[in-house]
Amino acid sequence: MDFRAPDCVTRAMQTRLDHGVFGYETVPDGLMPALTGWLKRRHGWTVQTKHILRAPNVLNALSMALCGSTEQGDGVIVQPPVFFDFYDILRENDRKIVRNPLVLADGRYSFDFNGLERCARDPDVKVLLLCNPHNPMGRVWTESELRRLGQICARHKVLVISDEMHGDLALSGHRYVPFASLGSEFATNSVTCLSPAKSFNIAACCSAFTVVPDDTRRATFMAANSRLTVNKNNAFANVAMQAAYAGGDAWLESVLDYIEGNLDLVRDRLARLPQVDLIDPEGTFLLWLDFRALGLPPDELTAFLRQKAEWAVTSGQAFGPEGNGFARLNIGCTRARLSRALDQLETAITRHG
Ligand SMILES: Cc1ncc(COP(=O)(O)O)c(C=O)c1O
Repeated sequence: MDFRAPDCVTRAMQTRLDHGVFGYETVPDGLMPALTGWLKRRHGWTVQTKHILRAPNVLNALSMALCGSTEQGDGVIVQPPVFFDFYDILRENDRKIVRNPLVLADGRYSFDFNGLERCARDPDVKVLLLCNPHNPMGRVWTESELRRLGQICARHKVLVISDEMHGDLALSGHRYVPFASLGSEFATNSVTCLSPAKSFNIAACCSAFTVVPDDTRRATFMAANSRLTVNKNNAFANVAMQAAYAGGDAWLESVLDYIEGNLDLVRDRLARLPQVDLIDPEGTFLLWLDFRALGLPPDELTAFLRQKAEWAVTSGQAFGPEGNGFARLNIGCTRARLSRALDQLETAITRHG
């Protein structure tokens, strides 16, 4: 997002900076209570501190979870179109990508449960990489969808590694359900990766954590973390995360209101452009736009958006071939900027004919 981080975060970081001593750091006493307090207060999820492992960032947490629970060549289910870095971490760790595409019907994406059952039945498949809420189209999976998905995975002994870093960003009318909050049988078959990075616009402060309720699995992960020595603390990441989780509620709510205002603006303006369809988001500041009616091949669509509309969007094909003809737009920006961008798109499309 383009927004400044909450004042409580910048003040806490300033105080830490003014302290002036930056030797090795321990975990501040207030950090874990702030974190578990946030999960309870915002999402009704009770997380035990001993189940939490720290990680430098979410992708690193996902990679460590994958390496700790699979071997090279093992199959990992992904549900495209999905966040492009999922593919990278699987390729770079030599895991087999098993694709179970989401189904798009009447402008809404959903899980393909039959496909999931087929993929999960393969004994080489060990993990499902879930994105909850789902990047790029902002589906906030419902409790019943997650239950059904979790039951299929449990039946076939497929571990659910869930990236929930957008969980704080559910829009009004939608509720983020942490997968592990569905009950102990779901929790023990899960690893959840979370972070304040997106919620508070502090991704460069690199701070993430993993909730691993199963004791044996957690012991394995802890041993792997200590072999890699990824257990040092960054002073600024710690204070930023603690301050955000302890006092960032009002800031987050105002940002969500603002994003909803931006979304209304996009809806209004796209109503005049039948060539572009908005997949209605339920969460996140990311919009998934369907440009298929323009009839442009994927590379030409990207070039058109970049050169004619001056839109620095992420091309849909980055999320898998299911994203061909789509693009992902970030609306975490000022309304004036968004309005200019929409003017540019309208002009480009009108000229395109
Ligand atoms: C779903 C999802 N997971 C992970 C990341 C990357 O997180 P980090 O920078 O903490 O590795 C992103 C960033 O866009 C994301 O959208």
